[in-house]
Formats: sequence, C-alpha cells, structure tokens
Amino acid sequence: MKSKINLAVLISGRGSNLKAIIDAIKSGYLDKVDLKVVVANKDALGLKYAKDFGCHSYVIPRIVNGQKIPVEEHDKKVMEVLEKYAIDLIALAGYDQILQKEFVRRYEWKIMNIHPSLLPSFGGTLHGQKDALEYGVKISGCTVHFVEEDVDTGPIIIQAAVPIKDDDTPETLANRILEHEHIIYPKSIKLFSENRLKIVGRKVIVEGELNTSFISDTAYHMKRIGVEENAIKHLLEKCRVYTVLVENITSREAMILKQELLSLSGDCAVPKESILNNLVFIDVILIGNCIQLRLLVKKLRNQVFNLTKLSEKLEENLADLKITDN
Ligand code: GRF
Repeated sequence: MKSKINLAVLISGRGSNLKAIIDAIKSGYLDKVDLKVVVANKDALGLKYAKDFGCHSYVIPRIVNGQKIPVEEHDKKVMEVLEKYAIDLIALAGYDQILQKEFVRRYEWKIMNIHPSLLPSFGGTLHGQKDALEYGVKISGCTVHFVEEDVDTGPIIIQAAVPIKDDDTPETLANRILEHEHIIYPKSIKLFSENRLKIVGRKVIVEGELNTSFISDTAYHMKRIGVEENAIKHLLEKCRVYTVLVENITSREAMILKQELLSLSGDCAVPKESILNNLVFIDVILIGNCIQLRLLVKKLRNQVFNLTKLSEKLEENLADLKITDN
C-alpha cells in the first residue's frame, strides 16, 4: 500500500465539509491523505478553500449556455480529471448531482458521501434536516457511507446522532448536524486512508486501533473531536503551564512554596542546598497551570512570613494574564 492516498473532493456549494477535510490535512490528522483535486459542477463558494490550500481545482459546469448537459457526459468529464490525478478516494461533499452507474462501477467502494440524516431515514433528498423536523423525529444526525448505484443507500461507515430540540428550525438543526459532519467525515477518510474499513455484505467493519500520541495543535483537536467552544477556552488554560519567577524570598518561604505547590501537583524550582541558607534571600520559580496557581494564591493568604504578600503579588500577576475563574 502507498504511504498516502490521493483524494478528490466533489462539491457544489459552500464547502464547509471540504474545509474540515483541509483543516484535518493541515493539522497532520489526515497524514496519509494527499488532497489532489477539488471538482465543482458550478462556480461553488467552497472552491476558495481549494485555492487557499493550493490543490488543483476544476469547475466542470453542468449547465452550459443555459442548457443542462447530459449527466453521463458530465460524469465522463469529471472522471477524466480523476484519472489524471490517479485518485484513490472520492469524497462527495455537498455534491448535488447523482453519479451514474458507469462512474460508481469505475470507482467501486472508493466513493464516500455525507448525508445530513440518520440513514436510511430521510435519504434521497437535499433537505434531510427539514424532512426529519417535519416528521417529528426526536433524534436526527448525519451519516457517512460508501456510494452505490442507488442514492443514499450504500454501506454505512460512521453515523453521529443529534437530538432535536422543540424550538429547532431547519437552519438551527442543520447547523448542529453540520458540526458533527465536520467530525465524522475527516474521521471516515482517515480510516479509509489507513485501510481500516472492510466491507462485509452491507456492513462496514471498522478496524479501529487504540492509539496514543502527543499533540501540539491542542485547540484544533479539541474542536475536531467536538468539545464545546466555551469548554475549549477553559481546558486550554488548564493545558498551559505557567512559570513564575519569585525573587528575594527566604529559604524557609521557598520550602513552604514547594510543599504547597507539590500538594497541588505543581512544583517549585529552588536553588540547590537552599535549605541550608536559612536566612539568605533566594529566587525560585513556581510551576503550575492557572488552576494550581489560583489555588496557591488562596493557600498563601493564610501563610506566615512574607507569603501573604506574595499571595497578593501573584494574584496581580494572574489578573494581568486575564486568567479568570470559570
Ligand atoms: C451538508 O449538509 C452535507 O451533509 C450535504 O450537503 C451539505 C454540504 O455542506 N450532503 P457543505 O457544502 O459541505 O458546507
């Protein structure tokens, strides 16, 4: 198997799923995916993401001089582009055109689609969200599936459920579903690129593997896995470790600081043998995230020597950083 698969994305509209895929490539999450080309069947808004990213993009219009060209003819033109880039996987992302037999057969099990409902309910339409709402279902969602000749019926790869609220409109529901689309589409493409999807009859067996890795782009990944926006802010603060230089304290104060921070799972860097220099002023470095440092401020308020004063200074430092309780 090649180290990377060649991906093509077919769009017709705003391209938010295309953007989610591009973001996942940029972050390194889709490290086995090479987005070769984006094809649109009209002058779609989403083409701007392809241009910014720098991959090839084509507009192959379905309507020429006010006339719809036959769908088979259009498919053929699209396939010519796909051949040119030796495409391994085609992701339909808001592509408003049904692929014909020849296309589907040529790329059997190499075409994915995303649909904004829990298939097989509310398939075969461009307004699955509105239909689900009008039907009165309590749970809707989205589905990524392989494409077969019939519309929205192919083997299902991943689904995400989204509860419907009483005051939902087609727009609010569509927006909430879209957040989940942006999670499950890149995930499905990743599984494909790692050869972890096996089609057995109508079922797609996902051969997931438990994995751990250090990440640097934490904010991106929190968004990618679907953490709530306010929670992301708060959690990112927790991820960040601050180091605070404290000058001119006694070694007794330093020892207390070290103990207090250790009890909060932070730490305090002190000079070697400072324990012996009982009265000489020394410098130390406090190490902790915002929560640990805030708790330290509270603890120091009731401490002896100059530590109450340190508590006030530290509180000022934290306020300058605009670290707030939340
Ligand atoms: C999405 O809701 C997708 O499920 C459906 O078409 C919409 C495309 O949105 N097939 P976008 O162009 O990716 O923003």
